Amino acid sequence: MSQDCTFLVVGGGIAGVSCAEALVICCPSASVLLLTESSIVKSVTNLVPVARYLHKFDVREQNVKDLRAGIGTIVDQLVHINSSEHWVRTKAGLVIKYRYLCLCTGGAAKLFSTGQTELGARIIGIRDTDSVLELQRRLASAKDVLILGNGGIASELAHELHDVKVHWVIKDGHISATFVDAGAAEFFQLAKQETAQPTQAPATAIKRMRYSEMLPKGEQQEVGEHKRGAALGPDWHRSYDLSGSGAASAGRELPKVYYKSQIKQIEQLPDSGALCITLRHDDGSLERLSCDFIVSATGVQPRHDYDTDQQLQLAEDGGINVDEMMRTNLGDVYAAGDVCTAAWAKAPHWFQMRLWTQARQMGAMAGRSMAAAHEGETIYQDFCFELFGHVTQLFGFPVVLLGRFNGQDLGRDYELLVRCTRNKEYIKFVLQNGRLRGAILIGDTDLAETCENLILNGTDLTPYGDDILNPDIDIEDYFD
Ligand SMILES: *[C@@H]1O[C@H](CO)[C@@H](O)[C@H](O)[C@H]1NC(C)=O
Ligand SMILES: *[C@@H]1O[C@H](CO)[C@@H](O)[C@H](O)[C@H]1NC(C)=O
Repeated sequence: MSQDCTFLVVGGGIAGVSCAEALVICCPSASVLLLTESSIVKSVTNLVPVARYLHKFDVREQNVKDLRAGIGTIVDQLVHINSSEHWVRTKAGLVIKYRYLCLCTGGAAKLFSTGQTELGARIIGIRDTDSVLELQRRLASAKDVLILGNGGIASELAHELHDVKVHWVIKDGHISATFVDAGAAEFFQLAKQETAQPTQAPATAIKRMRYSEMLPKGEQQEVGEHKRGAALGPDWHRSYDLSGSGAASAGRELPKVYYKSQIKQIEQLPDSGALCITLRHDDGSLERLSCDFIVSATGVQPRHDYDTDQQLQLAEDGGINVDEMMRTNLGDVYAAGDVCTAAWAKAPHWFQMRLWTQARQMGAMAGRSMAAAHEGETIYQDFCFELFGHVTQLFGFPVVLLGRFNGQDLGRDYELLVRCTRNKEYIKFVLQNGRLRGAILIGDTDLAETCENLILNGTDLTPYGDDILNPDIDIEDYFD
């Protein structure tokens, strides 16, 4: 069995589908083939610009047969690449000859592992559609759930689960540390309490402070069994009913957060079958709780479990190194999305974070780059790689992250200017030498475009003092 194509894209996640779509648009007469392990693929829909560098979008799951016309599809698994002869072999034994290949095989969920195999079924890694369905099935009879992890998906789960008691175990001193700082975390928690028991009208506070570094650390340590499937999109939980049995009549109770904690031991109680968890806090103290199962949402690691005739050059984090045109070290082999690591000389305001936003941008970039190579054209890297930008939703609030929004790699030499109105907005500017280097906008995201300009232009904001966040002054007027 063998098949021929001009462009072969491997992976049915956002990066792979975005790449295939870009190829069909750029080279309508060439053959584009998408090789995916699952017949359900993910694509971007409802793409709305929020500012120049920011887009809001939904992720749609669809059958691979319903992809854009012009994309041929094969449901199978890649096992071998012979890059010098330009062909791959699949698990079913199919040989596909290609002219250009793009690897978008994504990441695998890092699963919390105890080494106790009998507990394996009680620990669910949240990463793909199958695992969410599994979660939903188990929730039907659950009273207590333990969520492990502090990234976007863990945060959304903690917010979305209801009719079940949620124990949220995080290793940081505040929630959602992958995305926000301690101040924003507090803002979210106050807002949640507010919903539970509304109080009087909130006041706005503006605060400027010097800050010591608080780099968001990579999530968890151990890696368990790999989970398959395309990664979840930003609105993944909307299509599922994440309600429990209600037996505990927990209603919309707030999750109980266990800060700076790790799981030390898990025992299964012989009578009830419940899991008895021992947590160890950073200060060495222990705490016990019981739960029905553990949801492990501790991040992803690049997944490439196929072999190649020549070695793919990997980065320290395990990703495949790519240059600014998304090329790997193997001839005519590209990579995009969670599986790759940006190994180009990065712009001062951009860094890689394995998010849906960047999967889309990299996938599209790889597609355009492969098309240009095929047509013998020269193109430049897309401008989206000049400025880090991400639009998401946390605890029901719209969130925009721009530039070095958590002071990433700025050392200790920066200032924060924060405006916070309880239950309404949390705006944080990261300033260095009077210049805006990054911003977090929660609740009110109108400032997004102004922030983009201020960051990119390196405008000196010293003359404006704290007025740049004064709610009575329209800062956009300053710079129009
Ligand atoms: C695959 O690639 C290598 C060189 O990279 C070559 O020596 C080998 O013969 C190729 N073909 C097959 C069928 O393995
Ligand atoms: C930044 O530069 C752009 C284009 O060069 C300009 O249109 C914009 O007004 C500038 N914005 C600020 C805030 O300086």
